[in-house]
Amino acid sequence: MNQNEIIKDFPLLQNRKISYLDSGATTQKPVQVIETVDNFYENNNANPHRGAYSLSIEATEEYENTRTKIAKFINAKHREEIIFSKNATESLNLIAYSYGLDNLKKDDEIVISIMEHHSNLVPWQKVAKTTGAKLNYMYINDEFELSDEEIESKITDKTKIVGITHVSNVLGTINNVEKIIKYAHKKGAIVVVDASQSIPHMKIDVQKMDADFLVFSGHKMLAPLGIGVLYGKREILNKMNPFLMGGDMIEYVYEQDTTFAPLPNKFEAGTQNVEGVIGLGSAIDYIEKIGYDSISKIENDVVSYAREKLKELDFITLYMTPNKENHQGVISFNINGVHPHDVASILDSNGVCVRSGNHCAQPLMRFLGIDSTCRASFYFYNTIEDVDKLVEALKKAYEMFRKYM
Ligand code: ALA
Repeated sequence: MNQNEIIKDFPLLQNRKISYLDSGATTQKPVQVIETVDNFYENNNANPHRGAYSLSIEATEEYENTRTKIAKFINAKHREEIIFSKNATESLNLIAYSYGLDNLKKDDEIVISIMEHHSNLVPWQKVAKTTGAKLNYMYINDEFELSDEEIESKITDKTKIVGITHVSNVLGTINNVEKIIKYAHKKGAIVVVDASQSIPHMKIDVQKMDADFLVFSGHKMLAPLGIGVLYGKREILNKMNPFLMGGDMIEYVYEQDTTFAPLPNKFEAGTQNVEGVIGLGSAIDYIEKIGYDSISKIENDVVSYAREKLKELDFITLYMTPNKENHQGVISFNINGVHPHDVASILDSNGVCVRSGNHCAQPLMRFLGIDSTCRASFYFYNTIEDVDKLVEALKKAYEMFRKYM
């Protein structure tokens, strides 16, 4: 499929005629995903695992088949290693509460990077405060990357958990998670990978990576809002206590006690977001139809062009690694002396959507010595013309504000 054909699959891009450069926040949805969700409500809607009638059995099959599809998609060894959640944030909270609080003790260490999204940071603060463990940070160097020395000096024999984003939602830096995992395992720590910003763009193989836990959100990879995934190694998940309690996660309930269902139900309390799960299955079909090789090729062309064009603008500061091979899909910048919200609103009036703010990464902002940035984030439906529109709109914004500088 060439890119012109791909873009026709995205109704919102056809209807609104905008340059949507905020896929790091959420992607647009192809018609195939929208129709799959519609079809579920028109023909298959029932509550999985709860009915003996055929409609409910079919809904159960669709729901569970999607679990198998996701397991294959990320090469999990066992389908019950896939747990559905609301989003990556809920998946990370599940790990923090059900693994972190039960396994850490005073003076143990949790190590995360300074580029973590709040969702892979605030839950670890809670674990540290409750257990007496220490929360330590791996800081980035001048190239916005984690050096080997930094990784090796922060992950020690005391480290029990390492939390690391695969790709930074602010910097676009691709972290060498395989290396971090190998090193952490040597020290006896388990590793939690936040793949929210990587899985939309690159093939994930949890066995090759050897991640103990890996999380992502469906809505950043073409699926509906409100569906997330937690992958965990079966032997670890089996030993963990449930996170949320209620329907469908139990085996037997007595007046004063309960035994819990086996994986994966143990971690899926209450009626689930079935349309989200099924929509995620359809999103995976769509990504596989395009293929990660084509996705990378398109994005590489567009993002490389954006990197070069933005570097030519002497009135902006860019927050991205000079090493192209370690960078993906996200470019943060500021027009010097102008607040990012003002820049974003001028871009908006020129039909260009970017996010502005701290991007749920306040410790990173503080480390960089700034409050906020504008952020353009790309997906395979973005074009060279989108980049040109961004650059032209930035020039206009600069012209508008320079008289006040
Ligand atoms: N985590 C999302 C982002 O980076 C919302 O924009």
